[in-house]
Amino acid sequence: MSPEFADQTVLVTGATSGIGLAAARQFAACGAVVLVHGRDQERGREVVASITEAGGTARFVAADLADADDVKRLAAEAGPVDVLVNNAGIYVFAGTTETSAETFDRHMAVNARAPFLLTAALAPGMQQRGHGVVVNVSTVAVKHPAPGTAAYGASKAAVEALTRSWADEFGEGGVRVVGVSPGPTRTGGTAEFGAVLDGLGDATTLKRVAEAEEIAQVIVFAASPQAAYISGTVIDVDGGRSSAKAA
Ligand SMILES: NC(=O)c1ccc[n+]([C@@H]2O[C@H](COP(=O)([O-])OP(=O)(O)OC[C@H]3O[C@@H](n4cnc5c(N)ncnc54)[C@H](OP(=O)(O)O)[C@@H]3O)[C@@H](O)[C@H]2O)c1
Repeated sequence: MSPEFADQTVLVTGATSGIGLAAARQFAACGAVVLVHGRDQERGREVVASITEAGGTARFVAADLADADDVKRLAAEAGPVDVLVNNAGIYVFAGTTETSAETFDRHMAVNARAPFLLTAALAPGMQQRGHGVVVNVSTVAVKHPAPGTAAYGASKAAVEALTRSWADEFGEGGVRVVGVSPGPTRTGGTAEFGAVLDGLGDATTLKRVAEAEEIAQVIVFAASPQAAYISGTVIDVDGGRSSAKAA
């Protein structure tokens, strides 16, 4: 891969697993200094070690994104970043009548409030420096809800609205904001879904689930100079879900 992120600092939230892990590795391979975020210290240490062994540069930053004060501490600890990837997310599938207020609030806190607080803390610095990119990871469930995705989809719909608002709010300062909306993807988080995940893959035109690397490639593209005129929109990386007969 080309070193097009040389001298850039990239913070990837939820980089200890799945899509975030794949994105962290790809950014590092493109020359970025990667701030690997997660909660689990051991997993964080392993990810940093694997990036370092591959010749990249990374350090681990821990924070619980369900805790607003911890999110603000994370932003302060990260310092100036050129690219913020709001990737960390939770998805607890349950019907609306089976979803507690706590579960709803947790989706909103981790999936929407944490990106909100991180962007509020880090985008002004990008504006001052005249450049920067925020990539927000959404989900196909916003457009195509699967059973049990009401709270999750609502939290990610908020992320898509924020993507459009922030593009306008920070655009004059040279900051781009891009959403990436994955379809069903094989990750640590979806491993327990088994046949349900394969069923979601079957509902795409490509009749399969994505690999985390395929989503990460689009995240890296969205943050790259090749995407210099893309902002305020959400890129579907969903195997053609909207065009599928089942759509
Ligand atoms: N996989 C899919 O099919 C799919 C489809 C559409 C969209 N997405 C979206 O893509 C993103 C990544 O999904 P994934 O499947 O790759 O996830 P995953 O394998 O479950 O990994 C989740 C990551 O988020 C971190 N995380 C979770 N809760 C956190 C919290 N409270 N505080 C800090 N970190 C937290 C985890 O860190 P630790 O465990 O180390 O704390 C981990 O690094 C999510 O936003 C998800 O909604 C996924």
